[in-house]
Amino acid sequence: MLDQLKALETSFEEALGNVETEAQLADIKARFLGKKGELGGMMKSLGQASPEERKTLGQAVNVTKGRMATRLEEVRSSLERKLIDQKLEKDWTDITLRSSLKHSGVKEAGLHPVTIVQRELEDIFLSMGFDILDGPHIEDDFHNFTALNIPETHPARDMQDTFWFKDMNHLLRTHTSTIQVRGMEEKKTPPFKFVGPGKVFRCEATDASHEAVFHQMEGMLIGKNITVAHLIYFEKTLLSQIFKRDVEIRLRPGFFPFVEPGFELDIQCLICGGKGCKVCKQVGWVELLPCGMTHPNVLRHGGIDPEEYNGFAFGLGLDRLVMMRYGIDDIRHLHGGHLDFSRQFAK
Ligand code: PHE
Repeated sequence: MLDQLKALETSFEEALGNVETEAQLADIKARFLGKKGELGGMMKSLGQASPEERKTLGQAVNVTKGRMATRLEEVRSSLERKLIDQKLEKDWTDITLRSSLKHSGVKEAGLHPVTIVQRELEDIFLSMGFDILDGPHIEDDFHNFTALNIPETHPARDMQDTFWFKDMNHLLRTHTSTIQVRGMEEKKTPPFKFVGPGKVFRCEATDASHEAVFHQMEGMLIGKNITVAHLIYFEKTLLSQIFKRDVEIRLRPGFFPFVEPGFELDIQCLICGGKGCKVCKQVGWVELLPCGMTHPNVLRHGGIDPEEYNGFAFGLGLDRLVMMRYGIDDIRHLHGGHLDFSRQFAK
């Protein structure tokens, strides 16, 4: 009987060695360990043995049964892995493969110039240790206005400037400053610094430099004992990186309810070097970047103690940067959808 048991285990192992599918494995399980299986048959035949023998043989059968069950489980899990590997081997796509469009005469798609510039800026900010955050286009009054210290009576809330939803609580965000508030809510404890790029919407008449949909990139840095000197040094460094050369800047007072003091930051015209030309309208300076020291009320709305922390915020106009970079004289080209325009940027 013990010999029989050994032979059974050997043929069990042999069968396992040839398993290729889960169905075959199930068959083996039934054949050896099932109710009417071979091991079960042996158990039954124990009835004819002497009580002494029955005990030793019964134990041997049980031990073998346990061993077989473990082996089945081992083979099952390695088969499962093998099947996954086979599937991975068969079902894959080489996403680095160049499309065959090139040879078919169809032009390949390219990135929009705003996307190109936005990605470049994101790389610069990442290298300076900023996080990049996203925020919703549909905002509520709190994130777009109230939390930013913009009172109910502020003209920015006017029907002329803002696309409101019927409930008069939701709107299409009019600036990316909403991300200041969402960023503070998410980060909670300073120090932190982040930028938030994206589309903004204003219900305005369009002309060469105004569009109803345009792009901004908001920035915020909050820490301890931050001063206007930090702000100036930071902006100068940032702009030199963007334009890949030294840039002269100047600050003028500017009013934005969420900063105090607030500034309009101008750069010396890169075309004429400050002498005056068509691009800078003979002034020598180009208005580029509104900014300022974050108002204590804004910090409070973001859950941050203004007695302990402070910092600055800025808003980059992405479309303006794109126009300067590529010499585009009308913002409406950016959304015009003309292929002749867009194709110039495809690499
Ligand atoms: N949100 C302002 C605008 O859209 C720009 C701004 C951002 C000003 C950050 C100061 C600080 O005009």
